[in-house]
Amino acid sequence: MNRTLIKNATIVNESEKFEGDVLIQDEIILEIGASINPEKANLVIDAGGKILMPGVIDDQVHFREPGLTHKGNIESESRAAIAGGVTTFIEQPNTNPQTVTIDRLEEKMMIAANSSYANYSFMFGGTNDNLEELKKLDRNACAGVKLFLGSSTGNMLVDNEAVLEKIFSNTDMVISTHCEDEGTIRTNLEQFKAKYGEDIPISAHPLIRSEAACYLSSSKAIKLAEKTGARLHVFHVSTALETKLFRNDIPLEKKKITAEVCTHHLWFSDKDYEEKGTLIKWNPAVKTEADREGLWEALLDDRIDILATDHAPHTLEEKQNKYLQAPSGGPLVQHTLPALLEKHKEGKISLEKLVQKMCHNPAILFNIHKRGYIREGYFADLVLVDLNDPWTVSGENILYKCGWSPFEGTTFSSAISHTFVNGHLAYSKGKVDPGRNVKRLTFDR
Ligand code: DOR
Repeated sequence: MNRTLIKNATIVNESEKFEGDVLIQDEIILEIGASINPEKANLVIDAGGKILMPGVIDDQVHFREPGLTHKGNIESESRAAIAGGVTTFIEQPNTNPQTVTIDRLEEKMMIAANSSYANYSFMFGGTNDNLEELKKLDRNACAGVKLFLGSSTGNMLVDNEAVLEKIFSNTDMVISTHCEDEGTIRTNLEQFKAKYGEDIPISAHPLIRSEAACYLSSSKAIKLAEKTGARLHVFHVSTALETKLFRNDIPLEKKKITAEVCTHHLWFSDKDYEEKGTLIKWNPAVKTEADREGLWEALLDDRIDILATDHAPHTLEEKQNKYLQAPSGGPLVQHTLPALLEKHKEGKISLEKLVQKMCHNPAILFNIHKRGYIREGYFADLVLVDLNDPWTVSGENILYKCGWSPFEGTTFSSAISHTFVNGHLAYSKGKVDPGRNVKRLTFDR
């Protein structure tokens, strides 16, 4: 029996912030108290007032395995995840082969069991022609179903409306969507090609993958969910206009339509294309400052439920191509919590709200079993954060396989000091422990 006591922490959990201790026994949180006797433990960690929060649950990452492993793999990206305080991830199906059969899903589960540093689950990818397979999926087998209603890395566009309606009608799992209308994007792209030929500037990206493209696709998905009663979760909302489509007058537990916002849409704006170029090319695109502000408002007033990373590594060489050839996406899983803590310090968001959006809400939304909270009897997925430990993102401390970050050169004033995964001290003082104790997610559905 192993007992670790975290003493003198500032615990942020369930809308509260208080001084206290947490005792871990093996994988589980045994006790939370104002002052727990150190003799109960064989290892005592003095938190010295640092913030103790539940491990982050990231509901949208792309770890590129199998098939795209020159960009990243489950081992490399999950190491980066725990260095960023992310103890659980839900990975997306646009790998090669795509995760569109139950066998492919189970193959990924096996890879993660053998190499992941964080708890894991995966999305099953819906396509124009795998409805029968989707129907066979056990609702507890994976986190949910992912549908690309706009094409992106991996060519997984689902554009057959009849099929779409059948998918929405035939599963009670969470359906997560990438919403960007293809027709609108195609028309916009043709216009920019007519003007610039093959040399379109990156600043055109949010005009090609436009507000209208996002709004049309999100609205359609929501209408279909309302018609069919499906459980819809709209990934990476990127415009202020779309936030009007979501409600905040009922608790998350009762919502049938929910929304996620991602780090890059909260941090960058179209003003940053000049400096960062294609490094900040994402689908959906980073848009205007007004959009960014609208997303913050919706996150804070609970129209948006979850804050995630959409971690999507590509090599620097790939990203440095011209606009049309540069792939969309960028690595974020190691730097999202430090970046958001910076926003906390600017007064943009409270720690309690951050914990709600990054830890509690993903657990509620996906019905994840015994994670996402600091509660006695729950898995000890915990993160200690030092709010006064400045560091600069650089090649020496980036853990992504692709070796770069859109935050390179940025100094964050907060650092992740310890990450526990199922009670195992997986990351401390800048080092990942080679031992692993991770689990496939189970669900209370
Ligand atoms: O920018 C993006 N990149 N958006 C996505 O939806 C996919 C991702 C990727 O996998 O590269």
